[in-house]
Amino acid sequence: MSNGNRNEEGVSRRDFLGLAAFGAAILASLGALAGSLRFVKSNVYSEESKKFKIGKIENFPIGTTRSIDGKSVFIFSDDNGLFAISAVCTHLGCIVYPTEAGFQCPCHGSKYNQDGKVIGGPAPRPLEWFEISQEVDGTLFVDAGKAVPNGTKYIFA
Ligand code: FES
Repeated sequence: MSNGNRNEEGVSRRDFLGLAAFGAAILASLGALAGSLRFVKSNVYSEESKKFKIGKIENFPIGTTRSIDGKSVFIFSDDNGLFAISAVCTHLGCIVYPTEAGFQCPCHGSKYNQDGKVIGGPAPRPLEWFEISQEVDGTLFVDAGKAVPNGTKYIFA
């Protein structure tokens, strides 16, 4: 005798639909839980420090310009102090190189004067100047995450 509501293993259509609905509810609950856990985690991102060591003041005799390996910054030393200018073009982020007149971007031809002010090309803003600080042991640091007003120069002992 056959039962129209049971398959060969003996699970009724009603049981199957009930199990399917239960499984779907479990999956939906897990999805909702995973989504809500996202909000438990803080949305505050700890940004990696952009501060790096550049050495001691003796490494920067007056009248010199230095680039720092792996860092997109130029360090200048003149009669008025030490200053750091970003090498990142403000147009689309290419790395500028120093010229007689200041800086030149190889990508789209932006030109900057020696203070980083735009004198040609598509760059919308001057090159950034960065904070320089000194630890008690005399070690100097540049913080590429802290822009300072263009023209800011530091005197260190
Ligand atoms: S990225 Fe420097 S001019 Fe375009």
